Amino acid sequence: MVSGKRILLIVTGGIAAYKSLDLVRRLRQGGASVRAILTKGGAEFITPLSLAAISGEKVYGDLFSLTDESEMGHIRLSRQADLVVVAPATADFIAKMAMGLADDLASTALLATDKDVLIAPAMNEKMWQHPATRQNMAALEGRGVLSVGPGAGDLACGEEGWGRMAEVPEIIEAIGAYFSTGAPLSGRRALVTSGPTIEAIDPVRFISNRSSGKQGHAIAQALARLGAETTLIAGPVSEPDPAGVDVVHIETAADMLSACEEALPVDVAVCAAAVSDWRVKNPATRKIKKSPPGQKGGKKGEKPPVIALEENPDILARLSAPGNMRPALVIGFAAETEDCVDNAKAKLVAKGCDWIVANDVSAETGILGGDDNTVHLIIGSVVESWPKMSKQAVAERLATRIRDHLAGPP
Ligand code: C5P
Repeated sequence: MVSGKRILLIVTGGIAAYKSLDLVRRLRQGGASVRAILTKGGAEFITPLSLAAISGEKVYGDLFSLTDESEMGHIRLSRQADLVVVAPATADFIAKMAMGLADDLASTALLATDKDVLIAPAMNEKMWQHPATRQNMAALEGRGVLSVGPGAGDLACGEEGWGRMAEVPEIIEAIGAYFSTGAPLSGRRALVTSGPTIEAIDPVRFISNRSSGKQGHAIAQALARLGAETTLIAGPVSEPDPAGVDVVHIETAADMLSACEEALPVDVAVCAAAVSDWRVKNPATRKIKKSPPGQKGGKKGEKPPVIALEENPDILARLSAPGNMRPALVIGFAAETEDCVDNAKAKLVAKGCDWIVANDVSAETGILGGDDNTVHLIIGSVVESWPKMSKQAVAERLATRIRDHLAGPP
């Protein structure tokens, strides 16, 4: 996939820089040639010598080097590549890119290039989630900069969470996908629901569930990566907005339904949200008070208020209903604590969707809120049981199946 391609790799100053050596090695094994720019920060983590030895090329670092400029000017350097890859891309370097600064060779080459750019962000989770970084990423995405990762896991700072640079095979895959015959889902539209909904009891209390949104968000990201114009309708979660996805934040099931309807028409809808089945019939407009002791009804043993519930609309069933706005492919999820496959099969029929992804969320699986998932993909009466894998891997595999199903002109 990368054979014969010329990559300009920019290595910036993060601990993940050590992985770029392996990235270069594997790219070269795949038949690509790699020329590297090592920023001043990057050179604090790896040496130009190791990068030169592994890439088999001169390593560039200084914008004001007369010899470099006469041998290979920064403009030529940035244009002689087929793709520019920044790995790791630190929060600082991403900010620089977003601002269009050009105070060193790497940032100058990025401004001068006429080629596409793929970045592999790497930083602490708080930095990744900081509104400044979110804004910078949104600006870069708006300009068509591609990104891979970051993933979740142990971070070099000793904390855990999002911010780990994508693993080298993932970066290679993203580079390979770029060079494969264009984005396979480009021209297609996708809708994904994710996370829980919350339904007010009164202005301060609500009914909700434990959905983390990890699986749904990962699916939206995977579809966007394949080139689909993706809208994610997300309930309240702590997951960051996935890159390259149009995210609509909602709270209630009713709002999720309207947002879904507004996103139509789409080619594929994936309902991964844990929609609250019920909502409170008449939510109180003021906080419901417990009567103070001594007052009427305030005695010990006072009966708690009765909360009447009514059913929420079933979004998956609505999207699956026949009609000219029905997506070509509607996929539901079935989180079950018992008889997972049988219950999911019944749900597929009851809701009228095309595929259903069943997963066992009984307490002992530790799936709820975790990073891994064990799922069964049910298409009609065929059940495919996938091995336990990360939610990201489930998302990528499902997106690939969607791609295969929708193959052909839009
Ligand atoms: O019936 P149950 O909630 O188990 O069905 C799960 C599937 O239905 C999921 O795909 C979920 O997103 C979807 N659903 C929905 N609207 C509801 C309830 C569930 O879209 N009100």
